[in-house]
Amino acid sequence: MNTAWLSTSKCHSFHSFLFLFVVFSLPLPSLQASFFGKRTLPSLTSKEISILTTTPDPLKNLDPHNPASHLAKILIPRAPETDNHTFVRNYIVSTLKALNWHIDEDQFTDVTPIGQKRFTNVVATKDPSASRRVVLSAHFDSKYFPTYPHNQFVGATDSAAPCAMMLDLAETLNPLLESRMKQFQDGLEDDDDIADMTLQLVFFDGEEAFVDWTDTDSIYGARHLAEKWSTTYIQPHNKRRLMGLHATELSTIEHLILLDLLGAPQPLIRSYYLDTAWLFDAMVSVERRLGDSGAFTYDKEKGMAPGSWRSYFRPRTGKTSNYGYVGDDHVPFLRRGVSILHIIAEPFPHVWHTLQDDIHALDLPTMRRWNLILRVFMCEYLHLRPGDLESRSPSKHRERSDSELA
Ligand SMILES: *[C@@H]1O[C@H](CO)[C@@H](O)[C@H](O)[C@H]1NC(C)=O
Ligand SMILES: [Zn+2]
Repeated sequence: MNTAWLSTSKCHSFHSFLFLFVVFSLPLPSLQASFFGKRTLPSLTSKEISILTTTPDPLKNLDPHNPASHLAKILIPRAPETDNHTFVRNYIVSTLKALNWHIDEDQFTDVTPIGQKRFTNVVATKDPSASRRVVLSAHFDSKYFPTYPHNQFVGATDSAAPCAMMLDLAETLNPLLESRMKQFQDGLEDDDDIADMTLQLVFFDGEEAFVDWTDTDSIYGARHLAEKWSTTYIQPHNKRRLMGLHATELSTIEHLILLDLLGAPQPLIRSYYLDTAWLFDAMVSVERRLGDSGAFTYDKEKGMAPGSWRSYFRPRTGKTSNYGYVGDDHVPFLRRGVSILHIIAEPFPHVWHTLQDDIHALDLPTMRRWNLILRVFMCEYLHLRPGDLESRSPSKHRERSDSELA
């Protein structure tokens, strides 16, 4: 099979967006793409959903006016190799370390059009001993501009807000992931397959081009990490027997979900890949259930009430193929056969790569809604049960899994 893959860079203007494209040829997809296929995601009950949508408060981490919020800490100019960039990286690392996540800081240097630069991807894994993982990712660098005032660019949607959403998700799911790890260790968890899957957050460095977006001036961090993981062979592990003898770090990724350009009102998200159309549909289903339940209504905002909210997801046309065309951090993984869900507003927010992509570009009810969608979606993906923290006996859980997961 020889599939052509069309790409325009995420960083061309809209006019050129349609016309400037580059054709790459994809290497043969690895076995992995077909190894982890479509599976059934159990739906949370409405009680479980209401626990998740209220606890913890889905706004506190995303309120840019609150200087203590995750978003406020990240929403500063943070181009690579600056003190602010180090501050943001350390903030992400310390937040996740405090939740007892395993942190790997993947440091490297690369040559850019403005000289050699040092980059650091942050990889946070809840359970590094798990044999498989789902990756949720975004880039934490902001675009470099050489002169004032442009060097004050803070990239609110690009991608401060997605990074803050990831930290919120880590905080929300952390107790659920821990309680499941404990049950797994105690032998109480019998759904082996899923219980052995962990959540990994990747904060990519150097996504932005220093000058003009090209194959070598963009996605420095993603290119480095995909290459490194594709040549890192993992230790044999009895649970990994199905993975073959030469399994790499890359082959243990079930899906890579990439968030970008989110936080502005009424985004439109497309399904780019046939392989993950089912996963896209699962996210649409989460949105629909939340919207119909009234969970999106916030403050006096009427536009998100049941019956009046509009979906963030474009209906899938029959034409979806495995052709992506927005260049972004997923590309080096896609080209190595990793299954991708790319959640990016397209058209891009109108403030894209301007100084207006700041606090004013962000819409609180929209960010809150993204938080709710991600919380429920990842819980269903990972088969986590939010009621677990209140009351749960192992036998009760077994009955539930037998009926719902059979
Ligand atoms: C670093 O961030 C602060 C806000 O915390 C900002 O005022 C300052 O201009 C930034 N420094 C640089 C060099 O961008
Ligand atoms: Zn950008």
